[in-house]
Amino acid sequence: MKTLFINIQELLQVRDAGIQKVSGAEMAHLPTIKNAYLLLENDLISDFGKMENCPKLEVDKTIDATGKVVLPTWCDSHTHIVYAGTRVQEFVDRIQGLSYEEIANRGGGILNSAARLNETSEEKLYEESRMRLEEVMQQGTGAVEIKSGYGLTVEGELKMLRVIKKLSENYPISIKATFLGAHAFPKAFRENHADYIALLIDEMLPRIAKENLAEYIDVFCETGYFSVDETERILEAGKKYGLLPKIHVNQFTAINGIAAGVKYNALSVDHLELVTDDDIEILKNSHTMPVALPSCSYFISIPYTPARKMIEAGLPLALASDFNPGTTPSGNMNFVVATACIKMKMTPEEAINAATLNGAYAMGLSHSHGSITIGKKANIILTKIIPSFYQLPYAFATNLIEQVYINGKPL
Ligand code: NIG
Ligand code: FE
Repeated sequence: MKTLFINIQELLQVRDAGIQKVSGAEMAHLPTIKNAYLLLENDLISDFGKMENCPKLEVDKTIDATGKVVLPTWCDSHTHIVYAGTRVQEFVDRIQGLSYEEIANRGGGILNSAARLNETSEEKLYEESRMRLEEVMQQGTGAVEIKSGYGLTVEGELKMLRVIKKLSENYPISIKATFLGAHAFPKAFRENHADYIALLIDEMLPRIAKENLAEYIDVFCETGYFSVDETERILEAGKKYGLLPKIHVNQFTAINGIAAGVKYNALSVDHLELVTDDDIEILKNSHTMPVALPSCSYFISIPYTPARKMIEAGLPLALASDFNPGTTPSGNMNFVVATACIKMKMTPEEAINAATLNGAYAMGLSHSHGSITIGKKANIILTKIIPSFYQLPYAFATNLIEQVYINGKPL
């Protein structure tokens, strides 16, 4: 199957193979071809260039993209799409003045979702989750990471990870699974952290590894959740099973969790609403991708990741949705990009780099996703007719997507 797009107004994020991420000042540059063609062959990108150099080709389908923009699909490297029910009451409670922390202390928050999930059958959980996955695919996401972490029991965590596995078998987009058993301490272990960590290390991890259910391991390293010491112990255990860390850190307090992540060679450190000068220095000498989650800051009214400070220090930055029932009930990556521009003062070029190539890096997928590169997956967004790609963050709440293609096929 060959599909040729012609007269593309702007073809964004065109890169040579081998470029895995962009950092610092490079992020301001989004390589673009104006008046371009693009050839998709089966599930891969096979050719592109300036329209005037478009070869005469025998193709199955030609699509005239006059006035439209083509870009790689979003790479959403941090989500919790698999969950049961909602937390709308907490949403209302926050409007009426309670904080996220106060709600969690009253037994709401992550434990609320865990109670629900443990009562929900695997079939029902799959059904709810696939609807969210289909929604984000329609919104232009072509690769996604999904975490466990609302089970907090052996069976609950396995149930979540099996649902993630089933999603990845049944849907054409790339899905990476992360084990987040260390998301919160269940009530029964509040005063007995050691026993929960033992359950996680001695029972959950071996079963997950045996069934090959996760590639990454995550810990919510935060005051009131997992300390830096506890985080290190869990990452060390994950390492024995070949699980790379991607950790939640510096969301509410900065407790040196970033250093722990870097020490364990984390693929990414995520949230970073608070970032110290030391954190920046540590990240500078690492392969770890910092990931910002602006929809979470927006939804629960907490600070935004200091993107300017980080980019100006030469760091890379990725953007992800954090889609979850408590802090971000949305996986809309266009909103993430727009919010990064509006609230974090990232330029549209920086934000799109962060939500495509750098997002792919944060999932170990930059060899196959995140840019328009020959040999990469034919995963693209074709926009409606728009004046330029700036319209995507500018018209932040308008759906400007005409069609999403995954593996060369329209959704
Ligand atoms: O990434 N910060 C920790 N975990 C999730 C939210 C969990 C929840 O409230 O359900 C997050 O924001
Ligand atoms: Fe999260």
